[in-house]
Amino acid sequence: MSNIKFHLKTFGCQMNVYDSSRIVDLLQLHNMQQVDDELDADVIILNTCYIREKASAKIFSELGRIYKLYLRFKKAQPVFAVIGCVAKAEGENIFKRAPFVSIVLSSQKYHLLPELITQALENIESVNSSEKKSKKVEHKINTDLSGLEKFDCLPKVKKSEKVAFVQIQEGCDNFCTYCVVPNTRGREVSRNEKDILSEIENLQNLGAIEVNLLGQNVDCYNGLDENGKPSNLAGIISKVAKFDNVKRIRYTTSYPSKFSDDMIELHRNEKKLMPLVYLPIQSGSNEILKKMNRKYTREQYLFIVEKLKNANPDIQISSDFIVGFPNETEEDFQQTLDIVKKVQFIQCYAFKYSPRPNTPAQKMDGQIDNKIKSERLKRLQYELRKSQDKFNKSCVGRVMSVLFTDVSKTNPEYIIGKNEYLQPVIVKAYKSLLGSIQNVKITSGSYANLKGEIA
Ligand code: 5AD
Ligand code: SF4
Repeated sequence: MSNIKFHLKTFGCQMNVYDSSRIVDLLQLHNMQQVDDELDADVIILNTCYIREKASAKIFSELGRIYKLYLRFKKAQPVFAVIGCVAKAEGENIFKRAPFVSIVLSSQKYHLLPELITQALENIESVNSSEKKSKKVEHKINTDLSGLEKFDCLPKVKKSEKVAFVQIQEGCDNFCTYCVVPNTRGREVSRNEKDILSEIENLQNLGAIEVNLLGQNVDCYNGLDENGKPSNLAGIISKVAKFDNVKRIRYTTSYPSKFSDDMIELHRNEKKLMPLVYLPIQSGSNEILKKMNRKYTREQYLFIVEKLKNANPDIQISSDFIVGFPNETEEDFQQTLDIVKKVQFIQCYAFKYSPRPNTPAQKMDGQIDNKIKSERLKRLQYELRKSQDKFNKSCVGRVMSVLFTDVSKTNPEYIIGKNEYLQPVIVKAYKSLLGSIQNVKITSGSYANLKGEIA
């Protein structure tokens, strides 16, 4: 079969965005074509997220919406594939709730897509042509999480953006009591340095100048080096920094108590390492941190931040927060607000605690009323906004380095890029600067973005 068209929708974190880009490469290698219009596809692929209830409920509503759209306008259904974290967590249940789905694959098994899509298309043809749709859709499922075999089956990247993402590690062994990731992505496992470095060499040859190293828990990176010895995050970053064309390096996500002194030293010495450290704290209360099974205290967290800022005064911190965790009192919450005032985070995500299936926190007594969660979220967001606003205003007058990637949608005379701190910077400048890093003098700053001129 040729000219198969697929439409891919991605939900959730950077890891899913990375997986989706690899899926596109893989399917294109099999002569399949990506289409933007969901009604124009033979195959609909949803790469899904299970982290909060809203994220996973959205997958079922999307499936239903797209299925109905097809029946209405095409009088036939496409092949549906659900991959990623909802696929792992819900498994066969997806076929019960949405029997028109053909393929369910975990994030470790998406390299099986080309073969399964080809089989499913044949089956869908007979389903669509059968009398009164009496024929049932065949179901194929593989939600195994073991190993890193997908990387051996994926093609070499052929095209790269200026900002490239590379997965170095997968899974998580921390078992925070609220979190589904150990169930959806499995145990911690690291790719070998050789594989990562050859992927990055290829990306830099294709034009990438910023590299983001990804993993659920990058501080635990321990892939083997060229001598067969376990490396670490600082080790692999130092090697990435040796690529001449790579000018900027970022990594995500960190875990506070695993953040090593080697990384602090690297932030002191390695100029290519961007000075924004994404260090999710989740709560400022030691009591709640303990109940979350986060293995650090607020004091230890503050100490890491202090060490980082002493090593490099340009460093700023971003973070994640959960409010309304079971048993969180007003005093606990005050401790969170207090941490925000102390650290002055420059970008944060804050979430209401969402009880998730098969996690210890879901079964805890002392679940918090949604009204209180909403009210705390609002108060936290107000405080976070204040520190972000303050930082953005403090940038005015500074010269910052900006990697330009886009033309403004509202005014084509302006181009947009990200500075060292991932803040969007808007500048009136020639499009020929797209894809390059420029020094920009910041002339104004609001909560949402910065404006400036080429320095
Ligand atoms: N409820 C709310 N937020 C959650 N996160 C993870 N699990 C939950 C949950 N059950 C948040 C954490 C994490 C981010 C990716 O999502 O803040 O850092
Ligand atoms: Fe969502 Fe977590 Fe899966 Fe990422 S790893 S897609 S955040 S559930």
